[in-house]
Amino acid sequence: MPPRTARFAAVRRWATAVTSAAALAACATYAYRPAPLASFHAGDAPAPTADARAELGRALFFDVRLSGANDTACASCHQPARGFEDGRAVAVGTGGRVGAMATPTLIGVGEARRLMWDGRVKSLEAQALMPVANPLEMDQDPAALSAELAADPATRAAFARAFPSDPAVTPANIARALAAYQRTIRPEPTRFDRFAAGDVAALTASEQRGFALFNGKAACAQCHSGPLMTDNRLHDIGLADRGQGTRFKTPTLRHLAARAPYMHDGSLPTLAAVVAHYADHSVQRRGVPARTPLTAPERRDLVAFLDTLSPDAVQTAAR
Ligand code: HEC
Ligand code: HEC
Repeated sequence: MPPRTARFAAVRRWATAVTSAAALAACATYAYRPAPLASFHAGDAPAPTADARAELGRALFFDVRLSGANDTACASCHQPARGFEDGRAVAVGTGGRVGAMATPTLIGVGEARRLMWDGRVKSLEAQALMPVANPLEMDQDPAALSAELAADPATRAAFARAFPSDPAVTPANIARALAAYQRTIRPEPTRFDRFAAGDVAALTASEQRGFALFNGKAACAQCHSGPLMTDNRLHDIGLADRGQGTRFKTPTLRHLAARAPYMHDGSLPTLAAVVAHYADHSVQRRGVPARTPLTAPERRDLVAFLDTLSPDAVQTAAR
């Protein structure tokens, strides 16, 4: 942990950066929206996209055939309507088998430099078949899956479109397609983005005070920095459960309103509980940031600001 002065210098850099031209340009990239998500249900026509590989990946992401018992898709746990999470404290896979950790969001995952809560995986291609083979998640042998999919003429045709020079239905091509789709899962624009783009009135006075706390006194931006609000690093934030390791990846704060409960162990049910954790309850072991005491009105302002990182429709539904 760097000395306190160095940490606050990092916070100030982000606070300044948000009004800089580079940060505004980065915010503009949120205007890219993935094509509307194809529905889960068989028989619905898939939405057209320019990219046949991502289109195949999207179909596979929603396809229960990826699990051995044909009862679980990637989207069973990574549900678009829940910010690509599942609303549970720990994931539940095929046949109701209970996993060890909370399902993380996939929003902005194409930009992640490390994957999984402990950061052990380096690419989406390397990750994609892990849940397929995991007995608690989808419990399917990837080679058997390839044979099952190759027996279906429509699926074979989709692989031919996605991989014109190498159309075989193989585990490697399944992983490539799933990775291509996941790179299209981008955050939707929010009121915070309008504010960052210069429209000061897009945030209320309370939300603006919350943003100032986030950058300043509460020091959240020390780790939750940049347009996705993650430094892509591993930290121990002093949760009581040390889980499978002490340090976990800083998650994005995009679409928070749809993603409760929070943290790798799903231990915090609301954003107010998250703020109370940092202010009052973090276990002060080596490497954990110091608690940041906040008054009741400051807590309300900080939560109000965190809500502006979700699209308006999600905020309204969650309130
Ligand atoms: C049973 C629920 C479940 C299913 C099904 C599932 N996942 Fe996950 N996913 C998780 C959990 C839990 C983690 C975190 C695991 C860890 O950190 O050890 C995770 C992590 C990930 C990550 C890393 C995200 C990050 O930011 O670190 C990616 C990418 C991912 N899953 C993609 C997929 C794909 C693709 C599929 C389908 C082939 C899939 N998942 C199926 C629960 C699930
Ligand atoms: C030292 C780095 C660090 C600081 C400072 C920090 N966070 Fe975090 N934050 C993390 C990490 C790491 C996690 C994931 C921890 C885990 O699940 O074990 C996290 C998780 C979260 C989550 C849950 C996200 C999810 O997907 O479940 C929220 C919300 C959050 N932080 C908000 C804040 C706020 C608000 C502040 C300031 C009061 C703050 N953070 C300060 C590193 C930090």
